[in-house]
Amino acid sequence: MISRWTVVVDRDDLTKTEVLHDELTAELEDCEVLLRVSHVGLTANNVTYGVIGDLIGYWRFFPTTAEGRGVIPLWGFADVVESTLDALPAGTRVYGYLPMSSHLVVRAKLTSAGFVDTADHRADLPAVYNSYLVTTNDPAYDEQLEDLQVLYRPLFMTSFLLADQVADNDFYGARTVVISSASSKTAFGTAQCLRDKGVRLVGLTSPRNVEFTSGLGLYDTVLPYDAAVDVEPSVYLDFSGSSDVRATLHDRLGADLVKDISIGLTHQAASQDPRSQFFFAPEQLRKRTADWGSDGLAERFGTAWRSFTAQAAGWVGIARHSGPNELVDVWQSVLQGKANPDTADVITF
Ligand SMILES: NC(=O)c1ccc[n+]([C@@H]2O[C@H](COP(=O)([O-])OP(=O)(O)OC[C@H]3O[C@@H](n4cnc5c(N)ncnc54)[C@H](OP(=O)(O)O)[C@@H]3O)[C@@H](O)[C@H]2O)c1
Repeated sequence: MISRWTVVVDRDDLTKTEVLHDELTAELEDCEVLLRVSHVGLTANNVTYGVIGDLIGYWRFFPTTAEGRGVIPLWGFADVVESTLDALPAGTRVYGYLPMSSHLVVRAKLTSAGFVDTADHRADLPAVYNSYLVTTNDPAYDEQLEDLQVLYRPLFMTSFLLADQVADNDFYGARTVVISSASSKTAFGTAQCLRDKGVRLVGLTSPRNVEFTSGLGLYDTVLPYDAAVDVEPSVYLDFSGSSDVRATLHDRLGADLVKDISIGLTHQAASQDPRSQFFFAPEQLRKRTADWGSDGLAERFGTAWRSFTAQAAGWVGIARHSGPNELVDVWQSVLQGKANPDTADVITF
């Protein structure tokens, strides 16, 4: 019998949390594997999973019977503790999408890189979230870089593909890229990918985050949200989701705002606006897989990832936490935007 804890969040009020405890008593069925969650990261991206949980289906990855509540997904490492598959023996370490819970049972279908969870409730959810990598099969895995992997790997793929898409479209004719929530990891990862591509990078951020964002040395100009940008042909990459920031930019730039792309909503309000085009990473992924082949894409991503991680450790320090209560503290801090961008949170379960 295995004791499990799970942090559940009120789906209508993400500030309300509870730690639930239960016992895992059922025998594993064919192809099932029991994972013990080990090491995860938590950033604004995980809050977004909760904010648009119903829209995209994020609540359905790790269902709970707790009425009106849900389990927030996290990215990180877990270890196999019980298995019905010889290829995934106890002790196998895997990376993927994990619940705010000490344990997870998956129904594994083996792949060359690891396995896919084929549990019924995940069948119609985006495939990218259902794949798990076995660390010993993953050329990009480095035990020393686990902190960077749990924090940045799920974000940097988006940074890489987004930067690639705008460069691939010759910046839609503009030579300035304006990026909101410029202090966020996905935003500054995008800026890093766009460095030296012949465009001016303007970061917009909260007044309290101007110093940190400028200190990254990735943006040519960093401005607080209430400052006016120069009027020149520009692309807007929106990580904040703020309708006020969007409206101000459109009013000021008019036709010079040649492209408005929405990627995130750190300000926690979905602001659908017909002027903005949603960035859909799998589309660019498909395009580049066709252009470069899987190996060519992996090689290019690998080069970008190594260049990013070589610098990222110097930009953001790591704050370590452990157990469900500290996980809840980190959740509250990230949710309320209290977290300082110079520090990122990793939690050991
Ligand atoms: N579409 C995709 O495929 C995709 C993939 C990855 C990430 N994203 C999105 O990109 C965004 C950034 O994610 P991340 O994990 O990189 O973020 P992060 O590093 O945790 O970002 C922290 C920053 O977000 C802003 N922020 C955080 N909480 C806030 C709050 N309560 N109120 C106002 N501002 C707040 C602040 O930036 P400022 O002061 O600079 O505004 C803060 O410095 C998320 O919305 C995420 O979902 C999208």
